[in-house]
Amino acid sequence: MSATETSVPMDISIPHITECNGPEKEATISEPPAAPPSPPPLINQEKVLVSVEVLLKPSSTAQTEDVRLAVERMLEKRSMSYADGPIPVPLDDTFLVDNVQRICICDSDVWVEKQDILLFWQVKPVVHVFQLSEEGPCEELSNDGQLASFHEWILPAKEFDGMWESLIYDSGLKQRLLRYAASALLFTEKGVNHVLVSWNRIVLLHGPPGTGKTSLCKALAQKLSIRFRARYPQCQLIEVNAHSLFSKWFSESGKLVAKLFSKIQEMVEEENNLVFVLIDEVESLAAARKAALSGSEPSDSIRVVNALLTQMDKLKSSPNVIILTTSNITAAIDIAFVDRADIKAYVGPPTLQARYEILRSCLEELLRAGILSNSEFQDGSNFLIPSYTNLREQLDSAVSPDTASPFYLAKQLLAAAEACEGLSGRSLRKLPFLAHAALANPFGCEAGKFLHKMIETSRRERSEMLE
Ligand SMILES: Nc1ncnc2c1ncn2[C@@H]1O[C@H](COP(=O)(O)OP(=O)(O)OP(=O)(O)O)[C@@H](O)[C@H]1O
Ligand SMILES: [Mg+2]
Repeated sequence: MSATETSVPMDISIPHITECNGPEKEATISEPPAAPPSPPPLINQEKVLVSVEVLLKPSSTAQTEDVRLAVERMLEKRSMSYADGPIPVPLDDTFLVDNVQRICICDSDVWVEKQDILLFWQVKPVVHVFQLSEEGPCEELSNDGQLASFHEWILPAKEFDGMWESLIYDSGLKQRLLRYAASALLFTEKGVNHVLVSWNRIVLLHGPPGTGKTSLCKALAQKLSIRFRARYPQCQLIEVNAHSLFSKWFSESGKLVAKLFSKIQEMVEEENNLVFVLIDEVESLAAARKAALSGSEPSDSIRVVNALLTQMDKLKSSPNVIILTTSNITAAIDIAFVDRADIKAYVGPPTLQARYEILRSCLEELLRAGILSNSEFQDGSNFLIPSYTNLREQLDSAVSPDTASPFYLAKQLLAAAEACEGLSGRSLRKLPFLAHAALANPFGCEAGKFLHKMIETSRRERSEMLE
């Protein structure tokens, strides 16, 4: 990591951070205190900061700073409009072609929620350059060698690539989490007094099974590791296996917790490290505590939970750690724990719009892979089905689409999404596979027919769910 890179603002994708920390303002801060800093030019205030993520090829050894500047130059040259999605790497730029795998505009709607497309003069692109770690998870076994007590990933990791984008919520949940993390890290970075303003850097996602809670935690860690790369060049995710902390050997459990947290503490001491600790199914800890209190569990269990809470409190003083937790059974979570979480977000089953978008991504993938066919997609290059918003606009216009239009397929897809009410995101992502397996002729099935099969399959799934 070059010196220039670490001096880049902490999270330049967040407007208020950039206004305080951005290069323009830095020049003002270095002026003598007698001259009050002049307000930034109006044009910058009006511009929307849009994140542009640049993935380097695994083979690239280019300096991230050089790539960042090259991408900024490239964006300046192109008077393009900004909407979420990929930007082609310009073939005439050999430096970018040699080093860059993908350029993507992400979350352009975070700040301008009602607007889909931004024009180049409304935008200040904030370029984040990163390379994926291909190492895979490291495992740390518990004392009896049975269960791994935690897994560790170097972020951003190949396994989590695209996970953030694949998770669909229409409630603004992802944006809320991203903003929360940005504020939490900014408060810490600026040394805001904990006694006066309290925040814990603990997130709790709770809700029914299969709604994407664990995936969202991992995806959030990955996203933040990309967005905060300039400030924290190293990031790790520690996934704690809560069950493994309860040793079958009396009094060993406390030691396991101590060992786990001493490892986390070590990582956190390195100030360029950003550490995410994921504790899945946190209610298992609460259950142990309840059972211990009622006398049905050895007192060792209660010590584990207490040790965990104490250790979490200790971590609070470290600026560079975020604790992410999930739970299935909201009512069962330890009240002492719930109280510590800053964000307690309910993650529910997908709404109609989210169901449509999840199934749309599945269908596009099956068309791309050639598993399904559709007359509209004969050219083999473009498998884009209209988005929910576009479909709604079309339906409102009262012109009914002809059978050859992509809107016709989209209407059928909407019917499938309606039929899937009550299914979790996990079940929805499995549905196309189950529907395909139920086809009499699985080769080259027409997309419209396939959607009928999917509606049938979803009915079966729902009835089985109710039994
Ligand atoms: N809202 C969603 N959008 C897209 N995919 C989703 C959504 N919710 C769930 N999924 C899919 O379901 C899969 C399972 O999600 P995950 O294991 O994260 O759920 P969970 O809420 O942690 O479940 P559990 O409570 O059973 O642990 C994910 O891989 C993801 O592909
Ligand atoms: Mg889970």
